[in-house]
Amino acid sequence: MAGGNAERIGSAAGKVILLGEHAVVYGAPAIVVGIERGATARASAADEVSRLVIGKELAVVGSDGSDLARAFLALLDACEVTAPVRIEVSTELPAGAGLGCSAALAVAIVRALDAFQDRPARTATEVGRCAMAWERVFHGNPSGVDAAAAARGGCLFYQRTADESAQAIKVLRLAAPLTLAIGHSGVASSTRAMVEHVAKLRERRREMVDRSVRAIDSLVQNAKLALEAGDTVGLGRLMDLNQMLLSGLMLSTEEIETMCRLAREAGALGVKLTGSGGGGCVVALAPDDPAPILERWEKAGFRSFSTRVEGDAPRPTVGSP
Ligand code: PMV
Repeated sequence: MAGGNAERIGSAAGKVILLGEHAVVYGAPAIVVGIERGATARASAADEVSRLVIGKELAVVGSDGSDLARAFLALLDACEVTAPVRIEVSTELPAGAGLGCSAALAVAIVRALDAFQDRPARTATEVGRCAMAWERVFHGNPSGVDAAAAARGGCLFYQRTADESAQAIKVLRLAAPLTLAIGHSGVASSTRAMVEHVAKLRERRREMVDRSVRAIDSLVQNAKLALEAGDTVGLGRLMDLNQMLLSGLMLSTEEIETMCRLAREAGALGVKLTGSGGGGCVVALAPDDPAPILERWEKAGFRSFSTRVEGDAPRPTVGSP
């Protein structure tokens, strides 16, 4: 365990799903990229009980039954922490925006806890698996794509498997860098609620939902080929088609549709909602310079930023300050 008042740090990446959200819950693959914005957790020894501080929110293990306290306890168990620990977390990711805030927090905390306990670093797969204990409390039926992206960064082809310990994760080597514009619709959404919405729709119209899942599956397979070949124009078209299918599942909103139109008018090669939808963020593939898309969104009142994804993305850091 970390001696004295030593503070141990863990960090993790946020993420953008390029294609495949929701279908990934039903076994289709998804393509996800880690982004530079992420989360950082600092661990230090606590007096009696373990505490988690996120901005103004405080969860004290054992003292309340909040989701946050339960999720924190699940992480402490997964990481086999026995001594009281204080974790302070900060993140640049907005919550409920589809950028993987929750999974980034979980992965950063797992890494800080491991450093606090002087544990040898776990593999990214193990870190992602521990983080799922937290994700299950908040999301009910998470596919694991967020935790995998938060733990690894880079560009991943991810597929859920029945056996969680054997997730299929393939690191994609991009033939050309990607420039992404990411804009926030201004409306927060709940991943749990949107995943439940699709599940309910599937109960009523199983064939329609399963057909969409199969169609998204084939878009994702083609997008993988496009990424490996550096075909950004083709990739953009596939993202547009994915957006149509997500709209068909009633996951889009008026703001998201407006943002998609504005981005296309500003020259985006493709644009779609990213994450759970029902609000949250939109991702646009920029031809090169993302500025015209960002300006268009900002003028219409949507906050935005851009990020570049290289073939070899930066790795999250672990360890002491
Ligand atoms: O909204 P986010 O960032 O939690 O992304 C959710 C992605 C979904 O496919 C909708 C759910 C999941 O568990 O994969």
